[in-house]
Parts: sequence; structure tokens; C-alpha cells
Amino acid sequence: MGCQYFEPCQHGAESFTVMMPKLTFGRGCLSEIGERVKAGGHQHVAVFTDPFLKDGPYVDIVLRSLATSKISCEVFSDIRIEPDETSIMDGAKFLRNASYDALVSVGGGSVMDTAKAASIYSAHPADFTDYFAPPVGASQPIPGPLLPHFACPTTSGTGSECTSVSVVRVGALNTKFVLGSPWLLPKVALVDPACTDSLPANAIASTGFDLVCHALECYTAKAYTKWEHISDPNKRTLLQGANPWSDMSARKAMEIAGEFLARGVNDAEDREARDQLMWGATLAGMAFGNSGTHLPHAMSYGITHLMADIVTEGYPVASPFVPHGISVIVSAPTIFAYLSEGAPERHLEAAGFLGADCKDAMPSESGEIVSKRLIRMMQETNVPNGLSGVGFGVQDVKALAASSIRQSRAIANAPRETNLVDMENIYSNSISYW
Ligand SMILES: [Fe+2]
Repeated sequence: MGCQYFEPCQHGAESFTVMMPKLTFGRGCLSEIGERVKAGGHQHVAVFTDPFLKDGPYVDIVLRSLATSKISCEVFSDIRIEPDETSIMDGAKFLRNASYDALVSVGGGSVMDTAKAASIYSAHPADFTDYFAPPVGASQPIPGPLLPHFACPTTSGTGSECTSVSVVRVGALNTKFVLGSPWLLPKVALVDPACTDSLPANAIASTGFDLVCHALECYTAKAYTKWEHISDPNKRTLLQGANPWSDMSARKAMEIAGEFLARGVNDAEDREARDQLMWGATLAGMAFGNSGTHLPHAMSYGITHLMADIVTEGYPVASPFVPHGISVIVSAPTIFAYLSEGAPERHLEAAGFLGADCKDAMPSESGEIVSKRLIRMMQETNVPNGLSGVGFGVQDVKALAASSIRQSRAIANAPRETNLVDMENIYSNSISYW
């Protein structure tokens, strides 16, 4: 292992870096938040959550725990699903209005990502796009430390509690882009699977496919040894390609999803499945936070850019809205069939981890096998049938590809080169699967 990674490249990177928060996992651990904050020496914290969780039981647990530990706090809940410039700058303003010494986030990916991004613009004010990579922004590095962040996820998919990235909508381009910096890594993650007990089936399915794709993308990503050698260790990004650490956590996350996703979606009382999915989401976050995702995530952003008049049942969000995990999975069966030519053995292994029958299968068959396994999982969990299931048709293919091709760094992390025409072909073959 280590340097002897698959397909080592003569002039590529020799090393990889792993970053992790102090992580606690288990039912009931949310109530540890007060003592965790106190142990960090903090006394006055900002609590970020969303309007739907604000008056609910999880925020109540957090507020009571903080009070018991004599930590004062104020709540910011003006957070939209799929955070944008407005909600992030509002969050930054909230943070600047008082002398908070730490930040607690309670919610899904949108809440944690808003907390991360607001923390940047509060500590280091700048034009909104300054810290984004081209073609969106000026690629300025985030100059220094942010408020210590205590992240408490309430969904089993995003993994944001374990990553140094924040995914936000850039209004000028009307699509999502990634802010990345080691400073964004939460200091503490409290992952309490009890928070997912009340989630409806479609939310478990959507977040579950986010976790599936995080893990599958990490496991099939370009090997870190194929990225350029880095002479300045401080310049090594965490989007560094597949490595032994991300392999380890991605593999287990796929095994969990293969075994428990349908159970967790179809039976809200199946605590074992929901606990496992929460652990799988955390593992997948540990993986992609240290390797990076690639094409399915890159191609999901065209969908969230161009969606219009799409109402997603069961979500308290105004149209247009396609849940993140759904926007990622609808093209994934075609994408992995395409990418398998670049890393056939890895795709075959991944299909097996997800529960496909790979007995006597050849690596050359891996694309079809992994694709069929994903489609089966989609059917078992009642998610939309490809792009047509979220309101797109062949007439949208060119625009979708033109939007997603802008995600250059993630596209470069895939195991096979992908150009605009390849993307158009992939979208064309993702209209429906059954
Ligand atoms: Fe994701």
C-alpha cells in the first residue's frame, strides 16, 4: 500500500494527506454537544440550523445540552436548502454581529455547508466569488482560521461533517460550485443516527444515493499517484484522487449501502438499517473529503442549474427543486458504464461491494454490471427513472452538458477523460432506464 498504489505513475504524487475531525458516532451522542463545546474552551456559540428543524427535537437537544454546560448561544435558522449567496452572506453577517467563539451546525448538508461558507466570509470578508476556483472565481486561498465548527448531521448522506468543502449555489451562474480549504474542516463531528428516525422514505433514498455516489466515485477516482507531484506540501489539495484511506472507507460505505439502503428506505422502523446508513454516510464523507468526487457530482450540477417547474413531492421547498442525491444518481448508471473503461477492475470490485453478483465476471463487463446494480437499487427505493423522472428530455441534453462541463476539477478526477460530446452522450443515455 502507500506508494505502491494501483497503476503508479512515474512523475505523479508520492504522498497523500488525511484530514478528519474528532468524530463521535452513536445514538444519543447529540446530547454531548454542550460538554464538547465546553471542553474546547468555548463560551458563546452560534447555532446554525434550518427553519424546519429550528423548533424540532434535535435543536432542542442541542440547546438544552449547551444550557446545561453553561454555554450561551444564539440561533441562526434563515438557511435555504441549496444555500446561495444571499443565505451565506446573511449567515456571515449574523456571525459578525456578536463575538461568537465557536459554531454549531445542526442539520443536513445545506446547514453544514452554509455554516462553513458563512464562517469564511465572516472571518475573511471578500467578494463572494473570490474564494472559488476558475471559471467562477479568482481562486484566492482562504487566508486563515475560521470559527471552530461542531457539526451535527441530521441526514444520512452528505458527509459534510467530515469534509473540507462547502457546496453552494453561485447566483451569477445559477449553479452549484465547491469552496474548498483545509480551514473548512469541522473540529468536531457528532453523528447521531437517531436524527434520521423521523426522515421520510424519499429523504432516506435521496441522501442514500448521495452516499452511494460519494463512495463509488471515490473508489473509482483517478489514483492520487496520477495527479501531479507536489513540491509544496501546503499546496496538496484534498481533492487528491483515490488513495488507500479513501478506498478503505468507500469500500465499507458501499457494502453498507448495498445491504441496507432498500431496507432503510422501505421500513422507517428498521433502526439497524438507519444506523448503518448513517455510518455509511460518515464513511463516505471520510472518503470523499480526502479524495474528491468526480463525474456524477459534476454532472448533477447541470441538473440543478437548469431544473425548472419541477416539484419534488415530500419536500417543504418551493419548486424548482431536485434533491441533491437524486440529481447525482439519475445519470450515474450511464456514467459508470462509460467510466468503467478507464478502471475496469475497480468498477467490478465496486459492483461487488454494492451487492452485485460478480461471480465469473470479467473486468470488461464491469460497466454493465455496476450500471445494472445501481438501476436495481433505484427501483427498490422508488427514485425517479433517469433524467425524464426529474423533468428533462432529449431536448435538454446539450444545455445540461454545456453547464456541467464547467466543473473542470471534478471532471479531471474521473478515471477516464470526458469532453463535452461525451457528456452529451451520457445525458442522452440517461433519459430513462426501465
Ligand atoms: Fe454529494
